[in-house]
Amino acid sequence: MLVAKEEMFYPFENSSEHRVLGGECCKMGFFKVASIKDLRSGEMKGAEAGGKPVLIVNLAGNYYALGNVCTHEGCMLSDGVLDGEKVQCPCHGSVFNVKTGSVVNGPAMKPEPAFQVKVEGDQIMVSV
Ligand code: FES
Repeated sequence: MLVAKEEMFYPFENSSEHRVLGGECCKMGFFKVASIKDLRSGEMKGAEAGGKPVLIVNLAGNYYALGNVCTHEGCMLSDGVLDGEKVQCPCHGSVFNVKTGSVVNGPAMKPEPAFQVKVEGDQIMVSV
């Protein structure tokens, strides 16, 4: 169900089953972010899930999602470089683990949020 932002209603605010946060919502709080055809192994892509910028990564057919806005000074990680399980921010070189969001190298000090991902049919879906 899609609703205008001003009309958002949270009848079961603590229930992910009924959560509506804008964008394309579905059961359990998962949002469609891309088709598996859009993301080959070893590739990453910026997307939005529930209005939040997320980075989707395909590592050998396993999909991962983390925040796309660098926790250092806000650059988009999707503009950076993916190297195996690590993504490097294009601005000052911080490196994050794409599976966990943890900081591998600074200057960033704070990890990226890591989100749950599932695939339904050919759709990659992320829970934020
Ligand atoms: S904004 Fe990403 S390392 Fe500075």
